Amino acid sequence: MKKIAVLTSGGDAPGMNAAIRAVVRTAIYHGIEIVGVKRGYAGLLKKDFTDLKIGSVADIIQRGGTILRTARCDEFFTPEGRESAVNNLKSTGVEGLVAIGGDGTFRGAVEIDKLGLPVVGIPGTIDNDIPCTQWTIGFDTAVNTAVDAINKIRDTATSHERVFVIEVMGRHAGFIALAAGLAGGAESIAIPERDYDINEIVARILRGQKRGKLHSIILVAEGVASALEISQKIHKLTRLDTRVTILGHLQRGGTPTAWDRILASKMGSEAVNLLMQGARKRMVGIQGNKIENFDIQWALNQPHEINMDDYILSGILAI
Ligand code: F6P
Repeated sequence: MKKIAVLTSGGDAPGMNAAIRAVVRTAIYHGIEIVGVKRGYAGLLKKDFTDLKIGSVADIIQRGGTILRTARCDEFFTPEGRESAVNNLKSTGVEGLVAIGGDGTFRGAVEIDKLGLPVVGIPGTIDNDIPCTQWTIGFDTAVNTAVDAINKIRDTATSHERVFVIEVMGRHAGFIALAAGLAGGAESIAIPERDYDINEIVARILRGQKRGKLHSIILVAEGVASALEISQKIHKLTRLDTRVTILGHLQRGGTPTAWDRILASKMGSEAVNLLMQGARKRMVGIQGNKIENFDIQWALNQPHEINMDDYILSGILAI
């Protein structure tokens, strides 16, 4: 293999830059040329390519976002779009692609591979909702950002003796809500994987009040319901002073944690190794602190469930 390409696609995640750096430097170490594709699959269609050298990825390991930019691209998901994307890569002499992103990115990767260009996927999304990997790049940073916000909100919640409903990201998955809720000591956590019961949430708040608790923190994943709606219900049932904070895209930015940088470095390097070994439509994942790889199509059909024991634990600890 003489030349490969790398792209980031879908929602950005802190640590994507560290992954790009690892891909570029591992490729160059092995004497392989490397091309960066701008704006994900949209850049493949426009042939928006840039040569990447050792210096191109200097001073980015600590930066959030992605130097390659990212986009969501509908045109790519037409047969003509996919064909032209692959032709653009092949005509540039590219023999393999590393695609960094979430499940949409992985689905695109499978389509490219089907058209004869080997692809390896790296899971990069704050949602942690990719099967076959315990961690996705960006999840740890997003959780730490959310926990930092909870700590600050707790201060003002205590001073004013208020109930705060905090909404975190995760349309279809409650990984961020559960991890941030457990680490942030939330009274209740509402996740898409489980129906929430407003009476249970209220009962917990009132129980806390009875034993002198000054505040309550309720964590809601965006896919469950709007935080505003939940806070209005709580207010109606308890008459307590209630406020809402939506963390939103704040969770997608910021300097990646050490763990996200290490994960990204290992996964980026392994993706290049796999391409060199002739891998086709594989994804890199981490299981039990070991970097593994799986067929992407197979992986996307595997269950990736939230740890219900952690959910139960959060309830026990917030009694
Ligand atoms: O998939 C990552 C994610 O941040 C989700 O948690 C969130 O629902 C979505 O992206 C937001 O997407 P956008 O950046 O298009 O608003």
